[in-house]
Amino acid sequence: MKSQTFFKLSPTSVEQLAEKYDTPLLVLSVQQIEDNYKYLTEHLPGVKIYYAVKSNPDPRILERLIELGSCFDVASDGEILSLDAMGVEPDRLIYANPVKTATGFAACRNTGVSKFTFDSESEIRKMATAVPGGTVLLRIRVDNSTAHVDLNKKFGAHPDDALQLIQMAKAYGLDMAGLCFHVGSQATSSDAYLQAIKICSDIFQQASAQGIQLRILDIGGGFPIPAGNENIDVDAMTQAISTSLQEYFPHTEIWAEPGRFICGTAVNLITRVIGTQVRNNQQWYFLDEGLYGTFSGVIFDHWDFELETFKNGPLIPATFAGPSCDSLDIMFRDKLTVPLELDDLILVPNCGAYTSASATVFNGFAKAPIIVWEEVRDFLADEIPLASAG
Ligand SMILES: Cc1ncc(COP(=O)(O)O)c(C=O)c1O
Repeated sequence: MKSQTFFKLSPTSVEQLAEKYDTPLLVLSVQQIEDNYKYLTEHLPGVKIYYAVKSNPDPRILERLIELGSCFDVASDGEILSLDAMGVEPDRLIYANPVKTATGFAACRNTGVSKFTFDSESEIRKMATAVPGGTVLLRIRVDNSTAHVDLNKKFGAHPDDALQLIQMAKAYGLDMAGLCFHVGSQATSSDAYLQAIKICSDIFQQASAQGIQLRILDIGGGFPIPAGNENIDVDAMTQAISTSLQEYFPHTEIWAEPGRFICGTAVNLITRVIGTQVRNNQQWYFLDEGLYGTFSGVIFDHWDFELETFKNGPLIPATFAGPSCDSLDIMFRDKLTVPLELDDLILVPNCGAYTSASATVFNGFAKAPIIVWEEVRDFLADEIPLASAG
């Protein structure tokens, strides 16, 4: 079985790339995207992958996944139309937003997308009118306080309400095909998946007893990437999930919607110290990338990014701020670092998910450009090896 690899630039590559392309700079490895996709297809055999486009919609990522045969989880008209423009067949898309918009429905009708998720009565009525006969999955709520981002506060029907919603969807003429759930993003163990699979198996049986045969289970996203000192065994997680699926759903079509796992480890950020300051006895470093850019994940994704400085020395607590003139633009406080100087380069690995996707151009700062590692590495001199895997 394929073991996991992680894309990480060497110190020399960081210097050369910064010299050639300036900073801030995002470096994407499409080979790592492919490796991550293949890892999941191998470790979750028989599971159809719907990449969650929201996590990183970069066209180079989408192109590679299209070539690999991936399907896609989309949540808006914009995502639907982008994939349609790239020639992706509509049956490779699921509009997996439990609360859909009129423009989203119109995009589905215009492109032929016919798979949807829902978690309420009002959405059943909307779908029956906007996309009659559509294939629908009921999203079930899964409580998982251990996930890094708990999505179940906003979405998901209570299991006790599932049967009634299933019956109503059927009565409204929809193709009531199955269930879906999302255990929360960056789930660190298989526990919530196993619990959700069991709950869904019970609901499948309840529906069957009422003459409704469900045929699809979508286990959502949530698969984790390395973060801080957390010791996460993805091999063990996927093994446990696979075993449980075989036990409870041996004859059901299984889908998954990974986002972070596919793109998170495939991007490195190179940023630079553009200001230093001591205030109230606290060291401050200003970087040329901030909270309104790639580090938007600090706010929207509650993510604590790893900063690699390639320097040795005593660790001091420091505040890291972004380049804008807004006082909110502070990424980290009391983050331990070796002392830094003006123009020092910092490498931020594992920053492909929920980063550039939510970056803005606030205050006139352009988004960090994204270059593809496999397209530039041959042009860099004196480089063997350029990136390390493992
Ligand atoms: C419906 C749905 N599917 C999949 C995902 C992707 O989740 P993750 O990036 O944790 O794999 C999300 C993330 O918000 C989501 O809302």
